[in-house]
Amino acid sequence: MLGFLALGLACVWQVKTVVGRSIYLEERSANECDVTHTEGEDDTPNIYQALSDCPSGPIVFTANTTYNIFSPVQFNHSDYSVSILGNLSFPTNMTAVQGAVNTSTNGGFWIYFSGENVNVTGSEDPWSGWIDGHGQQWWDAYNQVARPRTFGFAVNNGYLYNLKFYKPIAWVVSLATASNVYAGNIIIDARSNGSFPFNTDGIDGSGSDLLVEDATIYNGDDAFTVGQNSVGTRNVTFRRAYVSYSSHGLSIGSLGKDPNQPSNVSDILFEDVFLENTLYGARFKSWVGGVGLAKNVTYRNIGVRNVSFPLYLTQSYVDQESPGAPRANNASVIMQDFTYDNFYGDINTFHQGDASCVSDPCWYYEEGADGTQAAILRCNPGTCQNFTLSNIHLRPQSGVPATLLCNNPPIASPNAGFVCQNGTFISA
Ligand SMILES: *[C@@H]1O[C@H](CO)[C@@H](O)[C@H](O)[C@H]1NC(C)=O
Ligand SMILES: *[C@@H]1O[C@H](CO)[C@@H](O)[C@H](O)[C@H]1NC(C)=O
Ligand SMILES: *[C@@H]1O[C@H](CO)[C@@H](O)[C@H](O)[C@H]1NC(C)=O
Ligand SMILES: *[C@@H]1O[C@H](CO)[C@@H](O)[C@H](O)[C@H]1NC(C)=O
Ligand SMILES: *[C@@H]1O[C@H](CO)[C@@H](O)[C@H](O)[C@H]1NC(C)=O
Ligand SMILES: *[C@@H]1O[C@H](CO)[C@@H](O)[C@H](O)[C@H]1NC(C)=O
Ligand SMILES: *[C@@H]1O[C@H](CO)[C@@H](O)[C@H](O)[C@H]1NC(C)=O
Ligand SMILES: *[C@@H]1O[C@H](CO)[C@@H](O)[C@H](O)[C@H]1NC(C)=O
Ligand SMILES: *[C@@H]1O[C@H](CO)[C@@H](O)[C@H](O)[C@H]1NC(C)=O
Ligand SMILES: *[C@@H]1O[C@H](CO)[C@@H](O)[C@H](O)[C@H]1NC(C)=O
Ligand SMILES: *[C@@H]1O[C@H](CO)[C@@H](O)[C@H](O)[C@H]1NC(C)=O
Ligand SMILES: *[C@@H]1O[C@H](CO)[C@@H](O)[C@H](O)[C@H]1NC(C)=O
Repeated sequence: MLGFLALGLACVWQVKTVVGRSIYLEERSANECDVTHTEGEDDTPNIYQALSDCPSGPIVFTANTTYNIFSPVQFNHSDYSVSILGNLSFPTNMTAVQGAVNTSTNGGFWIYFSGENVNVTGSEDPWSGWIDGHGQQWWDAYNQVARPRTFGFAVNNGYLYNLKFYKPIAWVVSLATASNVYAGNIIIDARSNGSFPFNTDGIDGSGSDLLVEDATIYNGDDAFTVGQNSVGTRNVTFRRAYVSYSSHGLSIGSLGKDPNQPSNVSDILFEDVFLENTLYGARFKSWVGGVGLAKNVTYRNIGVRNVSFPLYLTQSYVDQESPGAPRANNASVIMQDFTYDNFYGDINTFHQGDASCVSDPCWYYEEGADGTQAAILRCNPGTCQNFTLSNIHLRPQSGVPATLLCNNPPIASPNAGFVCQNGTFISA
């Protein structure tokens, strides 16, 4: 059954006071198609029904309804909007999810959008509009087989607003092939009350012309990342966010995994972000033997509290579990025009790391690191160019002066702002 409401304008004004609908109402048309819910059944067919009845939307998941998204949904259209006011619940049957992921035709996304001009908004009601992955049981079982990606937004021209994700199984939001997208007020809560929530990457911003702001992310992998498997990520801003739990912070990379495919990213800005208790703050990683160019990258106004590695870069990254193609040489992705400005707060000195360590030495082990490093800069010779570090006010919790690990000084850096040495961090 389809809930098809033909509402006149007068009616629109009456419902405008309902919590959670104001954003959506500002751009609603006179008609909307509510997705129906059938108790105990898969609601995915009802979504396709609503889409076919209302091809230009708005498609509405109504408040106070928990929808069963028992099979993956592909929104393939253009020029419509979706409003998620009720909860969307993934299956609790792990085998059923894996079966669907194994036969997936869209990279294993459970909820996937493609097309042009697509707006998806959630609810302002803190108790409604959650996309619930029931990830806890996957984390507790260390089950990493055929996991779905939660939400793919492969849209040109769109916006995401007020979306909320609870206990995602793994990777949450992908904007990896999106362009010209605004994403505001995204909440991701991957806090576990049991085992570590592995691979709960928050937002993959590897698209182009993206603005992501006002996010709140509690997770167990990169909070925001750009450039993974990318050939041309550009003009991406992530700002005004709070990042916490066991997050791996604000990442670029890993770049250059495929030695034959240049990884290029440019015009990336991270601004006004506060990270608490996380493993990394600003993080860059590229592969030995990788090629490409990361250009015009700025991290500005980054606050940390109890963060293990607030400012970190490596150009000799290797993923032990997935080493990629053989490395023909020691090439490096070039890093050009990097600015790190105004980092403040305290470094996690006494309990470095997070609970994601499953090997010895741990995957995040750093030779020489002792919890006092404001920055770890592992450039290869000559491949970091035009770097500036300014206003770095990071202090170890032990009260000793902040230190630095530095492999090779950046070249062509008239305003480097620091002395490349292993030892005390000296601003210069
Ligand atoms: C929606 O999901 C959230 C998160 O799981 C939960 O706290 C809330 O109670 C749910 N709301 C309804 C109406 O079931
Ligand atoms: C949802 O349920 C809550 C609590 O029962 C109620 O206050 C609210 O008005 C309901 N919202 C809608 C849109 O029905
Ligand atoms: C969406 O598009 C893909 C690729 O064109 C196709 O395989 C899939 O069946 C479509 N899904 C729906 C629900 O129309
Ligand atoms: C999406 O939102 C934008 C900005 O509010 C608006 O201009 C556009 O018309 C909306 N598109 C659709 C298809 O609802
Ligand atoms: C889980 O899903 C699998 C595969 O669809 C099915 O065989 C099994 O009976 C389901 N388990 C439960 C408890 O429903
Ligand atoms: C899904 O594929 C994996 C191999 O990638 C296999 O181990 C698993 O049994 C499959 N599960 C289902 C339900 O098809
Ligand atoms: C975690 O929370 C879930 C549901 O909220 C509960 O069923 C489970 O027992 C809790 N696990 C632990 C280890 O506390
Ligand atoms: C960069 O992306 C933002 C957000 O989509 C857009 O508003 C802006 O026009 C883009 N800038 C350029 C130079 O393309
Ligand atoms: C990546 O950057 C390199 C170096 O500037 C350039 O030669 C190459 O064409 C770029 N590749 C793409 C796909 O933009
Ligand atoms: C560098 O990137 C920033 C932020 O994305 C952008 O505003 C600026 O125009 C870029 N600078 C150059 C020289 O392209
Ligand atoms: C060095 O980087 C800064 C910041 O991105 C930029 O403004 C400046 O033009 C760059 N210098 C050169 C010589 O490219
Ligand atoms: C700092 O130590 C690393 C080994 O951890 C070494 O490779 C590097 O050359 C040293 N840097 C300087 C400036 O001596």
